[in-house]
Amino acid sequence: MYIPEEKISEILNTSDIVDIISESVILKKSGRNFFGLCPFHSEKTPSFSVNASKQIFHCFGCSAGGNVLSFIMKYHGITFPEAAKMVARKYNITIETKEINPSKRRELHLKESLFRLNKTIMGVYFDGLKNLNKGEKAEKYLKQRGISEDTIEQFRLGFSIDNWDTIVKVLKEQKISKNIAVQCGLILERKQKNGYYDRFRNRIMFPIFDINMQVAGFGGRVMDDAMPKYMNSPETPVYNKSRILYGLHAAKQFCRQEGLVYIVEGYFDFLSLYQHGIKNTVASLGTALTPDHVRILKGYAAKMVLVFDSDAAGINAAKRSIKIFMKEGVDTRILVLPEGNDPDSYMVKHGPEAFNALASNAKTIMQFLLQVSIDSHGLSVEGRIRILDDMKQQLSLIQDSALRSLYIKELAENLNIDEKAVLEKVREQYLKHNTKKLSWIDEKKDEEKPESDRREEQMISMMLNCPEIIDEIKNSEVLEYFYSEKLKHIGKKIISVDPCKKAFITNVMARIANNEDQELIASYAMNSFFSEQDVHQTARSIINRIIRVRKRKENTLTSKIISAEKGCDSELMELLKQKQAEIQQLQNR
Ligand code: CTP
Ligand code: MN
Repeated sequence: MYIPEEKISEILNTSDIVDIISESVILKKSGRNFFGLCPFHSEKTPSFSVNASKQIFHCFGCSAGGNVLSFIMKYHGITFPEAAKMVARKYNITIETKEINPSKRRELHLKESLFRLNKTIMGVYFDGLKNLNKGEKAEKYLKQRGISEDTIEQFRLGFSIDNWDTIVKVLKEQKISKNIAVQCGLILERKQKNGYYDRFRNRIMFPIFDINMQVAGFGGRVMDDAMPKYMNSPETPVYNKSRILYGLHAAKQFCRQEGLVYIVEGYFDFLSLYQHGIKNTVASLGTALTPDHVRILKGYAAKMVLVFDSDAAGINAAKRSIKIFMKEGVDTRILVLPEGNDPDSYMVKHGPEAFNALASNAKTIMQFLLQVSIDSHGLSVEGRIRILDDMKQQLSLIQDSALRSLYIKELAENLNIDEKAVLEKVREQYLKHNTKKLSWIDEKKDEEKPESDRREEQMISMMLNCPEIIDEIKNSEVLEYFYSEKLKHIGKKIISVDPCKKAFITNVMARIANNEDQELIASYAMNSFFSEQDVHQTARSIINRIIRVRKRKENTLTSKIISAEKGCDSELMELLKQKQAEIQQLQNR
């Protein structure tokens, strides 16, 4: 479904964000904004603010933010078009879908066909399980693994009967294109190219739903020790393995409620936990977790608990995933189950209370890594040095400076080593891999950098709050002088929106697909960095300053090159020229 831009504008102009958010959050007016308890993280004092004139929301606590549509998407866990439809319905705006370009239409059409076919086939597998003769052993298998009727119903578990052509026949009967089925990975072409056969045979089938409850793909498990144990649908335009999490469609509301999500590996792990009432769970399906997975989950819960088996494979998987969680700055705990258990078998043996007790003692990332490292090196003097070597790599990955120093402190205490010494090690490690980038770790950081960021942020904040300066921004081409590519990009989006439009800020947001950028915009729009008295004068002075500083920096660089050339310092000259080229490249972009 594609909604034309004018419609989106109409929806944004007609709807009232205070109205809409009031349906889910209790808001109280205070000054220019409304405040309430943030629905996206748990808090006791309200830091979630809504501004009626700007038609945006922003949480000063967790920095969630956006316009009315981003709120609806995030709150209900639905897609952009769905959110637009929902708001449109409330305000009696009719949406007629518009002509879209042919390639986009083909893409949408293909996706629809893939979803439709998957749904049909899910029904076939579901019936397979209920098939009196042929489905019996599958039913028995699920029963023996403790899966209830309700769970089977809810997650539409099924069975692919032991035939080569069950699906092939269905396609023929229902006149469905073989080509689509091949793309779905449901059938494969025979080697002799004289026909097709089913991919999934004699397996318990798990449909994999996306967040909108559409069937994106399948996993299938054998019922004995045959190999491979699991077989999965391939990646398709509707099944992106680096984004889909098994069970999230059902778990999302519980993740929000609890502010916490358990991440397990397998289908049965998920089903077992869910069935035993631990519904704030998702499964990664054995693949490595990706930054996208983590970002998606962040929309539902601030805290995450990774649940792993205690075998070497489990520990290694945990170590691999941890990096991503650290980079994303998520409050993550690691729960390593007692030897010989996976979440499913543990739940079946010991039940949910025992699981909850274990979970409440889950280790922090640092405690976990430290334990692993201590287990392999011991706590002798040499051991502790080795441990520090292990840990500095992990620590140097953390982008958030406050979090990083907390971890460093924790590690120093645990190892009984001076905190400064730990910090020094981490800094060395960081510099080894990031020689070029300016970074947190460099204490004598280029003073220009944060200053320039602040000015550029101020500029963006002004553009959002005082659209009347947009013409000046365009004429001065000041965006070209920005150091921050991100802010430049946002700035360009802003000037592409008609400043005379009502609900200007929210219209800007509607053009920005990236959720993080939307949140940034909301925070800049909320935090007015300037007094609103003489807008034009303030704008001009910031514009001039941005341009002047950048030009001056380049001039200094040029003069340094000249004197380096005179003094025959060829190494320095090379470096400077390189820098200059980098700057020029930035500007030409
Ligand atoms: N997996 C897979 N392909 C395999 C093995 C595993 O895709 N050959 C994925 C599956 O999603 C599986 C998860 O990795 O659920 C975890 O694997 P494993 O621990 O081996 O399976 P379990 O889910 O524990 O399955 P079971 O309890 O039925 O043995
Ligand atoms: Mn298992």
